[in-house]
Amino acid sequence: MNKQQIKTPYYLISEKKILKNLKKIKYVKTHSGAKLVLALKCFSTWATFDLINKYMDGTTSSSSYETKLGHQKFGKETHSFSVAYSVDDIKEIRKVSDKIIFNSIYQLKMFYKNVKDIELGLRINPGFSYSNFDLADPAKKFSRLGVSSVRKIMTILNKIDGIMFHYNCENNDFKIFSNMLDKISVKFGKILSKVKWVSLGGGISFTKDDYPLDAFCHKLKKFGEDHKVQIYLEPGEAVVTNSCELVTTVLDIVKNIKNIVIVDASVEAHMLDLLVYRTFAKINTKAGNNKYIIAGKSCLAGDIFGEYKISNKLKIGSIIRFADAAGYTMVKKNWFNGLKMPSIVVKRLNGKIEIIKQFLYNDFLNSLS
Ligand SMILES: Cc1ncc(COP(=O)(O)O)c(C=O)c1O
Repeated sequence: MNKQQIKTPYYLISEKKILKNLKKIKYVKTHSGAKLVLALKCFSTWATFDLINKYMDGTTSSSSYETKLGHQKFGKETHSFSVAYSVDDIKEIRKVSDKIIFNSIYQLKMFYKNVKDIELGLRINPGFSYSNFDLADPAKKFSRLGVSSVRKIMTILNKIDGIMFHYNCENNDFKIFSNMLDKISVKFGKILSKVKWVSLGGGISFTKDDYPLDAFCHKLKKFGEDHKVQIYLEPGEAVVTNSCELVTTVLDIVKNIKNIVIVDASVEAHMLDLLVYRTFAKINTKAGNNKYIIAGKSCLAGDIFGEYKISNKLKIGSIIRFADAAGYTMVKKNWFNGLKMPSIVVKRLNGKIEIIKQFLYNDFLNSLS
């Protein structure tokens, strides 16, 4: 199968590009002593797990379904976290979790008797964070994400083996990361000295080009040694950054002062985070003098991928490739407008292109009743 024969729209995942990130992950594991678990909330396309699980230690999840998926399709260590567990969640995850992390002391106490034979953790909200988006800031005012009071945490230390912080969002600034880790050492040193492991969460862009990997590894190693804890990281985006394209075809070009190109996919349905965070998609094409707004085909007026100046002239049938389409895309795709859902295609390490999944009318039908 070559790319020309596949009908758009489709997500094209490149294992070679994931491998580039995984090699950095292996480097971090080796040089820092940290363990790294994949955050399934970002990327759950399990057709690629045979590759990813050679380089990572397991998965972390945000719901009982993700926990089950991690256990079933990835294996290795399965971590569970949920902002709030139900009784049924606990019944399901206790069978398959290696670690269960609670978001509140109330939930920890409530479920303790059911799960005390499993390693338990508590999420701490350090009260500071790095995020360019208020929406994704875990330390925002009135945040419900994690416990902040050291005094209260000290009272339940006998019930937990570890703690979890998640306080970064797309943080590509090592200095800021390093300063915040120092603040964690000072503020939570007493707690760290009493637990076996600490997860520092996700949101660190350490697989980006030019990230100072050696300084990062050194910082983590020192932190682990100083507090005598096993460090975990929970990367999502860093595992799959720049490894996937959403491939689309131009269906129409309309003019309303500007040239507006309409493709056979939708921001709202297929790259929702762009809309949530009000950012534009990157496209894989050369810059030039042809100006276009590129828009999705849903009915939403703001279904806009972005505005671009590109070298080639677009026409009906032109292919447009949106870059960086792995993280928080496939996990969030939806059936808005009943639009055709992009197929999932994987280019394997050996160059073979496999259509992993095609979605048909029946999938739409069965998602409703
Ligand atoms: C608790 C937790 N861990 C890990 C992640 C993964 O973050 P990222 O995909 O930015 O690395 C998130 C993202 O929201 C999270 O909330």
